[in-house]
Amino acid sequence: MPIAEIRSLTKVYEQGRLSVRALQNVDLEIEPGEFTVLMGPSGSGKTTLLNLIGTLDRPTSGKILLEGRDVSGLSKSDRAKLRLTRLGFVFQAYNLLPVLSAYENAEFVLLLRGVPAVERRARVMKMLKEVGLEGMEDRRPNELSGGQQQRVAVARAIVGEPALVLADEPTANLDSKTAKELISTMRKLNEEHGLTFVFATHDPEVMARARRVIRLHDGEIAEDERR
Ligand SMILES: Nc1ncnc2c1ncn2[C@@H]1O[C@H](COP(=O)(O)OP(=O)(O)OP(=O)(O)O)[C@@H](O)[C@H]1O
Ligand SMILES: [Mg+2]
Repeated sequence: MPIAEIRSLTKVYEQGRLSVRALQNVDLEIEPGEFTVLMGPSGSGKTTLLNLIGTLDRPTSGKILLEGRDVSGLSKSDRAKLRLTRLGFVFQAYNLLPVLSAYENAEFVLLLRGVPAVERRARVMKMLKEVGLEGMEDRRPNELSGGQQQRVAVARAIVGEPALVLADEPTANLDSKTAKELISTMRKLNEEHGLTFVFATHDPEVMARARRVIRLHDGEIAEDERR
């Protein structure tokens, strides 16, 4: 079963008297274990598509099934619960809580889920190690480089063992060497743990590592290539 099934997805943003058709009849399936990149010019609908798959926003028409379940009709709180348990997010701006340490930022999702303390500790330590932050657990975001902060964000996104990780331009604020290292880490998580990723990006380093590239143009899929 696909992790995400998208059927005739259309999103129109209404802004006063203007309406912007950001996605137009998109059909797409994301299979378990894929490492997919969404590319396309600015304004082509990448963020809109990620936000819809991530249930952060609702479609104008069409359907999204996550792990076989139609999410269109879910209440706000059911969508929040679904995000907490089944999805991981990585954003361009890291979005870490500044007063919390690396450890506490990564632990947060598990706290919200009521995972017992001993298990929380084991999982957070393992994940921070996995993303290369061993020894930096107690540092606050302002004591970490951009690349290290984004690693904390990756650890936070995956610590809850999500079915799908959605990442919107995760390397946009990183220099190319740091971006390359971060992508290698995510690719390793994909290969070794079968984690499924969908990225929106303009970054050639990310595209180079993709196993599937979907090109959006004016809200439509112009190309879908598996490598
Ligand atoms: N909240 C919003 N209200 C109105 N229009 C929006 C909103 N969000 C996006 N749009 C419009 O929808 C279209 C698609 O935007 P989207 O952010 O999905 O593009 P993108 O491919 O992510 O671009 P970028 O590469 O610049 O991040 C654009 O025309 C944009 O102006
Ligand atoms: Mg975008």
